[in-house]
Amino acid sequence: MGRCCRCNGRLLCMCLLPCMMTGHLLVYILVSIFVTISYAPPKITVHYVAPGVSVNSSAMASHPLGPFWNLRLEDSALWNRLQHAWDRQHNPILRGNTTGKMSKTKERRLSQIEEGCLSDCMSHKCSVPRMDDLNSLPEQIRAFIKSMHCREYPLLINQPGMCRSNNSNLRSMDSPMLLMAIKSQVGNFENRQAIRETWGRSGVVKGESKIKSGLVRTVFLLGRQDSSTGPHPDLKNLLELENQKYGDILQWDFRDSFFNLTLKDLLFWNWLEQHCPTALFVFKGDDDVLVRTDVLVDYLHKQLEEHNLWRAYTNETDINLFVGDVINNAMPNRDPSTKYYIPESFYKGVYPPYAGGGGVVYSVSLALRLKKVSERVRLFPIDDVYLGMCLHRLGLSPAHHPGFLTFDLPHTERGNPCAYGPVLLVHRRTPKEMLTLWKQLQNVPGQC
Ligand SMILES: *[C@@H]1O[C@H](CO)[C@@H](O)[C@H](O)[C@H]1NC(C)=O
Ligand SMILES: *[C@@H]1O[C@H](CO)[C@@H](O)[C@H](O)[C@H]1NC(C)=O
Ligand SMILES: *[C@@H]1O[C@H](CO)[C@@H](O)[C@H](O)[C@H]1NC(C)=O
Ligand SMILES: *[C@@H]1O[C@H](CO)[C@@H](O)[C@H](O)[C@H]1NC(C)=O
Ligand SMILES: *[C@@H]1O[C@H](CO)[C@@H](O)[C@H](O)[C@H]1NC(C)=O
Repeated sequence: MGRCCRCNGRLLCMCLLPCMMTGHLLVYILVSIFVTISYAPPKITVHYVAPGVSVNSSAMASHPLGPFWNLRLEDSALWNRLQHAWDRQHNPILRGNTTGKMSKTKERRLSQIEEGCLSDCMSHKCSVPRMDDLNSLPEQIRAFIKSMHCREYPLLINQPGMCRSNNSNLRSMDSPMLLMAIKSQVGNFENRQAIRETWGRSGVVKGESKIKSGLVRTVFLLGRQDSSTGPHPDLKNLLELENQKYGDILQWDFRDSFFNLTLKDLLFWNWLEQHCPTALFVFKGDDDVLVRTDVLVDYLHKQLEEHNLWRAYTNETDINLFVGDVINNAMPNRDPSTKYYIPESFYKGVYPPYAGGGGVVYSVSLALRLKKVSERVRLFPIDDVYLGMCLHRLGLSPAHHPGFLTFDLPHTERGNPCAYGPVLLVHRRTPKEMLTLWKQLQNVPGQC
């Protein structure tokens, strides 16, 4: 009897258990199928609007491409610390509606967090940011830190009529297709003159293919270089004469130095918004480069055509163009003997993708958005990197174009005009070289 029971139990186990398991599996499958059929994905309607983008734009990203608020604080680096405070202050989740009125105590707390001040810079009421090893740093970065809260300087020489017409019928004719904004220094008269005589000549420029043309205007961006900013000879009268003759100088009241170059971008954007918002594209570059303006005009026409095609589908009116020689994953230079030296106590981390060396081309509509977002990005001493930081905050990256030659052609090719076929820009040319090369490039087509 007992033996038989044991035998039945084993039978039960061997037969019933698999049956039960199969049954469970079936139920599981049925439930899964039912759930899958009845499930509808939730509709995500939250849109992230980058500051400065027009509200009606249909090209809004549905969500940020990456983490856009860095909540981890790099406590030991000054720039990161100051930027972190601004990020918190402008974070819509932490701060809610910032367009509304703030209470007095809230405001005071903010200015304490900030350790600097936004505007009001000429009145010298701002405190210089605290930094422990400030006195052990090179003079250049020290001077930068002491004035990095200042970003508004008055214009000394303006060109309010550059893009304006007295004849309203011709308004569209007066709006430049391409505005050349060239960073120069008071003493570099020879460079400016060579640019005026070659690639920066104001007027209608025919494209290389001779089919299309565009109106080009040139302005030079200058700071101050006189006895008040260092041992400089006073060239004020000469500059005035030059401006009377050519009317293409913009000068602001700040010391023209390498670490102040970012100011030229910011102040130029202010000027652009006020005096030339109807231009289409900007070339921004140095006064020791050579730009093939005719090739650039053709390139920009192609961009416009592509944009118009795109626009037919999306109704998107803003052109988002930013091209140059793009550098990815660059680390700050930590060699104190170089001009680009950024100490670790000032900035930590990798640089965002940026367009370096010589010059970049961007659309005016993007420049206006960059201006807006720059109000939320702390000044950085290297201008190219700063532009990369601002682009990054708009969720954009600079586009690489192989025609921007930061590092020039190989030595043996430099004298050969045929080697310049696809080149848009070459870096480091003296005024004399500019004139020679420009002349050679005018007679290229037949030979190559
Ligand atoms: C958005 O479109 C509406 C009507 O379509 C218009 O009244 C408004 O001015 C537009 N806003 C912007 C910022 O373009
Ligand atoms: C923000 O606050 C201002 C003033 O209190 C108000 O006019 C505005 O509608 C608010 N905006 C939002 C998105 O709540
Ligand atoms: C436009 O008008 C102003 C005065 O209203 C004058 O000074 C200027 O020369 C004029 N410009 C041109 C291009 O006619
Ligand atoms: C930038 O310009 C301001 C105003 O002239 C000056 O105080 C500051 O020292 C300059 N910064 C550098 C790094 O030269
Ligand atoms: C673009 O605008 C036109 C008219 O303004 C409208 O009919 C069309 O639906 C819009 N297209 C898109 C993709 O928004």
